Amino acid sequence: MIDFKALANEYKTPLYVYDFDYMTTQYEALKEAFRGRKLIIAYAVKANSNLSVVKHFAKMGSGADCVSIGEVRRAFLAGIPSYKIIFSGVGKTDDEIREAIEKDILYINVESEAELGRVELIAKELGKVSRISIRVNPNIDPQTHPYISTGLHDNKFGVDLSTAKRMYIKANASEHLDPVGIHFHIGSQLTELKPIYESAEIVADLVRSLAGIKIELKFFDIGGGLGIKYDNETTIKPYDYAQAILGCMKGLDLTILCEPGRFLTANSGYFLSKVLYEKQNGEKRFVVVDGAMNDLLRPALYKAYHKIEAITENQGEKRAVDIVGPVCESGDFFAKDYELPELAHNDLVVVHSAGAYGFGMGSNYNTRGRSAEVALENGKARMIRKRESFDDLIALEKEFLES
Ligand code: LLP
Repeated sequence: MIDFKALANEYKTPLYVYDFDYMTTQYEALKEAFRGRKLIIAYAVKANSNLSVVKHFAKMGSGADCVSIGEVRRAFLAGIPSYKIIFSGVGKTDDEIREAIEKDILYINVESEAELGRVELIAKELGKVSRISIRVNPNIDPQTHPYISTGLHDNKFGVDLSTAKRMYIKANASEHLDPVGIHFHIGSQLTELKPIYESAEIVADLVRSLAGIKIELKFFDIGGGLGIKYDNETTIKPYDYAQAILGCMKGLDLTILCEPGRFLTANSGYFLSKVLYEKQNGEKRFVVVDGAMNDLLRPALYKAYHKIEAITENQGEKRAVDIVGPVCESGDFFAKDYELPELAHNDLVVVHSAGAYGFGMGSNYNTRGRSAEVALENGKARMIRKRESFDDLIALEKEFLES
């Protein structure tokens, strides 16, 4: 049991709390599922990019899946070795590509023919060879929220099979490109195995057909996407996931690379807010808390469900309530019509499953400093990010007041 009250008293609210031991359990479970196979787990830094979180994974031997050069730099700072870092994303700038090549990361995950051309040109300018992988878009419906679905041709991600093949042939012929991997990622919060299996089959067939023309790849990158329980979802078991992937890879001797984010961190995290007021607008009951959509955007952006726990002395009758923050937007809510007892000033509201895509999607909207972050490890709490102050928020603007 986590003593949320003590944490809120010590570190104040709003506050993110992450159970590092839970992250370890998840990491080990995934590793165990693929036991005996060549595997790199490349933690998807975007899910929770706090340096101490990334360092925690680095210590367990994890690599990093990055989507900007900023994330690549975080991975290096946190101690992830260059040979376990990959860089994906549909819109890498020339500067980002240059730095990735100079840093000699495992590979750049290329998402278009035009990008392949840029990577080749920049590698040539640097007099280097860039290892690459190509993100294949298998045109499979992942059956998840449309905003986090990425494996259909309607989505901006990756390239279709015939384009991918053409790109591999081009890369293989280039003095400055070394095609080492193949990648797919069809979406996030996946709770069905079938679309993953179907995608892996398609991609494995392409690997075989490339081998037939002497293009031998080394990495089979299955992306991230494993769903978690926010509520009562049935989720994919790591063992079944591994078996499905291995089933598609029969006869192929490639290192598996996977890029989990949410699976490793989401249920390690809690977002703590204090109750400011209860209010009633006609029939509608609201609890206003000190955390807001700028801290945790998922409910506002995706109408995402997060379990809410109220920490209060009041054990009275529960009634439906909207839990809302102070930001001036009607979308600023954590839950709607949630059953909670009457809450008093300074009671705590804990939002569960907040360890992935929580803090990282935060902003300073309404000139609100972002929350502090705290790690729990072996029963001890420690701060891993300070609360942002007003001075932090204006630091990059202040000097221009005089002009
Ligand atoms: N690899 C690639 C190429 C990705 O685009 C993503 C996530 C991952 C790995 C990690 O996926 P995960 O294992 O965490 O599902 N903000 C949204 C999620 C966006 C996911 C973006 N890509 C949310 O709050 O649900």
